[in-house]
Amino acid sequence: MRATFALLLLLGTACSRPEPGSGPEIAALRAELASLKLAQANPGSTAPPELGQQMLELQIRHARLWQAGQAQNWMLTQFQLAELRESFSGVVEQNGDHAALQPKRLAEVMPAFTDPALRQLQDAVDAQDGPKFEAAYDELSKACTDCHEASDHGFLVIQRPQTPVLDNLRADLPSP
Ligand code: HEC
Repeated sequence: MRATFALLLLLGTACSRPEPGSGPEIAALRAELASLKLAQANPGSTAPPELGQQMLELQIRHARLWQAGQAQNWMLTQFQLAELRESFSGVVEQNGDHAALQPKRLAEVMPAFTDPALRQLQDAVDAQDGPKFEAAYDELSKACTDCHEASDHGFLVIQRPQTPVLDNLRADLPSP
């Protein structure tokens, strides 16, 4: 009787244990290992920039876009939007397989979240439409936050800037 009970207990724990090799943590570790192996196999190759660094750049560009749009300086807004799009492309190109999104690919998840809002922003800026710009901007901020949630960084919540981060670049001049 006792032996049967012990056997049942053993079977129970064996069944409740997650399958080896599954789960997001394992997938993330695998991706990290793959990138380490790649770096080791190509010692001359340069490591991609830190994703956190690229995010700081996105944060600054996101803020500067708002200042330009608020000033209705459409020339500067076009410029800031183009720079922001370039920064997004850089992240996709250089950190497309980052561990944070594994087993999904950052290269697919990032554009899926942000492309619709970036298109709306482009339309608003082309039309020099202030209210449309603001609505599209909020969509983009939401896309940033949604992607943070999707990568277990839901505590990073992006909003409209309340004050300029960098006020050494004038946004208040009329477009030439
Ligand atoms: C791929 C989905 C994704 C999108 C889209 C995204 N982020 Fe991130 N972001 C991340 C991840 C993952 C991290 C954590 C990076 C790390 O581990 O250092 C992060 C970190 C950050 C950080 C913290 C960086 C630091 O080191 O202090 C900021 C700020 C940030 N993101 C801003 C933004 C802004 C602004 C946008 C939109 C314009 C944006 N992010 C869009 C995934 C994303």
